[in-house]
Amino acid sequence: MQKLLMHPRFEQISYEDAGTGPAVVLLHGFPFSSSIFQGLIERLSGKYRTIAPDFPGAGSTSALLHPEDASMELLAELVKVILDQEKVEQCVLVGHSMGGYVAMAFADAYADRMKGLCLLHSTAYEDSEEKRQARVRSIQFIQTHGSELFLKQMVPGLFASHYVHAHPDEVNQIVKQSQRIPAEMLIAYYRAMMKRPDRSYLLRTLRIPIAFVFGKEDTSLLLDQALSMISLPGDSTVHVLEQTGHMSMIEHPRLARLLDYFIDYCEASLIG
Ligand code: MLT
Repeated sequence: MQKLLMHPRFEQISYEDAGTGPAVVLLHGFPFSSSIFQGLIERLSGKYRTIAPDFPGAGSTSALLHPEDASMELLAELVKVILDQEKVEQCVLVGHSMGGYVAMAFADAYADRMKGLCLLHSTAYEDSEEKRQARVRSIQFIQTHGSELFLKQMVPGLFASHYVHAHPDEVNQIVKQSQRIPAEMLIAYYRAMMKRPDRSYLLRTLRIPIAFVFGKEDTSLLLDQALSMISLPGDSTVHVLEQTGHMSMIEHPRLARLLDYFIDYCEASLIG
């Protein structure tokens, strides 16, 4: 069910809230909305209370009045507002890409609200210099040519190429959804991602199970760099998925099952 919440700082916040049971919160990446998790929500909500916020400018959440205020910390606050509203004491957080950066900011501020963390095609490290430069070029492209053309070129590149060839209509649909996000919010998110700090130290100190999911064909998050994170936590699980790019929630039909095992494991870790 889609819910709306009015809040003085964020104006209107929209989020999906489906199912009952232990809570799992799905944080979407750039340039998506909670709708990217539609298939996962359907599967997970049979067993878990599945909550998926829309960040500002996505879904029916208002764009920020001052886009330059965007930060991973602000988005983490939006997640906390929803958890407080719904009286969810603790949850397993699953963050896809930018959503993973938000999950790390959330862990920095509200670790006691977490039972587990899954970084889905994401990293706890800050941007490399190369990545920052690529973001500057993307911002310039949006400012010159507009976000519609930018997203038409950028979004298909997040999938493994065979997937785009086999499912052109589905990918096109996802491009169209991403084009609803205002250009100024896209630019604000790029700037916010560039500013985020390295939070890999938290992987060492968080006392919760941590899972990493990577795609072998992900050109946005390079596997070699990402793999250096996996030995930092005291309790980590790693899935490296073949024939998968940056979008396993769409590309990999068994992702729901992997997450189900992980959430179950987080629940058992609380008892055991
Ligand atoms: C995302 O999917 O959220 C983006 O690829 C994140 C990024 O650009 O680092």
